[in-house]
Amino acid sequence: DLPPGTSISLLGLQDLKPLQSFPNSTGWVLFSSSPREEPFHARVVLRESHSGVEVDVREFTLSSANPAIVPIPWPAVSTHRQPLFDLSVEADARNAGGVFLSVTPLQDRQDLIRLCKGVGVEIGPGVNPQVLTAPDVDVTYCDEMDRAEWEQAYAYKKHTWEARTSATPWHLYRKASGDALPVEDGSLDFIFASHVFEHLVNPLRHIEHWLAKLKPGGLIVAIVPHAECSVDYARPLSTLPEIIAEYDGPMRPGREHYAKFFGEKDADRRLRERRSFHAHFYTAETLGVVLSHAAAYHGLDWYQIEHRGNYQEIFFVAGKAPAS
Ligand SMILES: C[S@@+](CC[C@H](N)C(=O)[O-])C[C@H]1O[C@@H](n2cnc3c(N)ncnc32)[C@H](O)[C@@H]1O
Repeated sequence: DLPPGTSISLLGLQDLKPLQSFPNSTGWVLFSSSPREEPFHARVVLRESHSGVEVDVREFTLSSANPAIVPIPWPAVSTHRQPLFDLSVEADARNAGGVFLSVTPLQDRQDLIRLCKGVGVEIGPGVNPQVLTAPDVDVTYCDEMDRAEWEQAYAYKKHTWEARTSATPWHLYRKASGDALPVEDGSLDFIFASHVFEHLVNPLRHIEHWLAKLKPGGLIVAIVPHAECSVDYARPLSTLPEIIAEYDGPMRPGREHYAKFFGEKDADRRLRERRSFHAHFYTAETLGVVLSHAAAYHGLDWYQIEHRGNYQEIFFVAGKAPAS
């Protein structure tokens, strides 16, 4: 946490081993840590170490609902040893904020998206559909909300998506929840979901539903935020017993789930707003425990998890064995 009016610096940036090759995906993650959601104003400043001259200054205003990944400004000539640069994040005098630095390479989403061939569904594309129709890809987009509902539910962070909504092919979307995909059983080659799995109550029954929709050899391909490398870091990780306990219950979030996430006081308001929230929090390890359980008891034939260092996302691919 950066208390008001303080700063944190990395001195001699190019001397820091993880930063020696240009870290294209590396960034500061900044967020307001005020319980009252007061905005956190921060400056990210790159200075020449020797002279203190500011060579790059970026200003950010962040609410806790709107954490931002701020790319590290990088000296134009990074291969030279001199001059060295210092990078600081400075909180203004009013409010505190949280800052952490991610220094692992990107996991490339295209590596996952390339696996999505044939007939499939992308669940929860929102304004960011990632599997695109192509000669060898026939994708149906299924989101639980239509455009009007989606824009209403995500109104609280409109500035992050308003530029994209007009280019989103909403007319191609089916309004359908991940627990009721509007396709025949045994008809899909793939099911893709990015930043959706952690929103799901009752993940084990979702996996069963998806397996029913897949052909033999079909794939579940998913991107899940890593709870300890994202804004979820303060939340308690979901445990397998909690997830198993949901199995006989509902598959859609109810008031109890809103209360657990937003607190008793705000639960009704957030439920009325249909505010988006995470029902579960996973690390690569705990996701592995859940998928192992699904493999042992819920028909999953195999799974693979990819997660590097402190990267903010976990990739997983899972599925049904090909017909023998
Ligand atoms: C955090 S957004 C992710 C959007 C996009 N896939 C991305 O990676 O940027 C979650 C999306 O999943 C949708 N969603 C959440 N739960 C869902 C469910 N049970 N069934 C279908 N869509 C769901 C939301 O409406 C929203 O569009």
